[in-house]
Amino acid sequence: MAEVYLNGEYLPLSEARISVLDRGFLFGDGVYEVIPVYGGRPLRLPQHLDRLENSLRGIRLDNPLDRGQWGAVIERLLAAAPGTDQAIYLQVTRGAPPERDHLFPVGVAPTVLVMAKPLKPRAPQIAERGVSAVTLEDLRWLRCDIKAVTLLANVLLRQASADAGADEAILVRDGLAQEGSSSNLFLVKDGVIHTPPKGQLLLAGITRDLALDLAREAGLPCVERPLPVAELATADEVWLSSSTREVMPVTRLDGAAVGDGLPGPVWRRLDTVYQDYKARLRRGDV
Ligand code: PDD
Repeated sequence: MAEVYLNGEYLPLSEARISVLDRGFLFGDGVYEVIPVYGGRPLRLPQHLDRLENSLRGIRLDNPLDRGQWGAVIERLLAAAPGTDQAIYLQVTRGAPPERDHLFPVGVAPTVLVMAKPLKPRAPQIAERGVSAVTLEDLRWLRCDIKAVTLLANVLLRQASADAGADEAILVRDGLAQEGSSSNLFLVKDGVIHTPPKGQLLLAGITRDLALDLAREAGLPCVERPLPVAELATADEVWLSSSTREVMPVTRLDGAAVGDGLPGPVWRRLDTVYQDYKARLRRGDV
């Protein structure tokens, strides 16, 4: 049975318990991170911990662990399956006060959970055929830059996309396509990669930033600008990115083919450099 870290202890998942008064459970009052690990080496760990810091600041909660402590917990959990590909999940909530009250509790310790699970390799059909998406109205709040566990809108939108037979929902606010329900969004037009700029209406994805860095290094032009949803319909390529799913080509959007309906040449180029980055990370070369 996999071990997890909960509030300073390492224990089997089946023995990890929190109070029903935990504010994560009652209010969704907490934040989280998902960190991919290749060959035992976390991808862009400092950037994930920076984003955690920003999320905690956004909900006015002190970081319960310092960098060294987060790193040590993650290392210990990874030691259970050395050298493998894993996804680290970590969550911090505002803890469990003696009674339910919307106001911040005083003197209550946060709840800290960290766990690891094997990261599944990408299914071959994703590179061969791509994935499908539907556009849906963004129902979320106005602080989507905070990686909050309060994911009800994301859950409803993802389920609505599945009910429509699609792999992901692309969320649209005021006519602008922002991101997926759990992924960032890119389009390619005439060889140029476009993605919405960071701000409060989308999550600053670590995979997004890595993809932009790798694309620029490979000489692929990139532009960060607001994306009117209508541009998706005429894009040559559409992509979605996340820590657990890398950069995926979207080949069907709202039931119609994107470009020629197959993963495009710019995605293939980007994916080659992305897979090379993973290989270098596994060897300890990045
Ligand atoms: N989700 N946008 C949203 C709303 C997300 O939930 C995620 C990631 C991303 C991509 O961010 P990153 O590249 O840092 O994973 C963008 C994680 C994987 C999840 O909720 O499981």
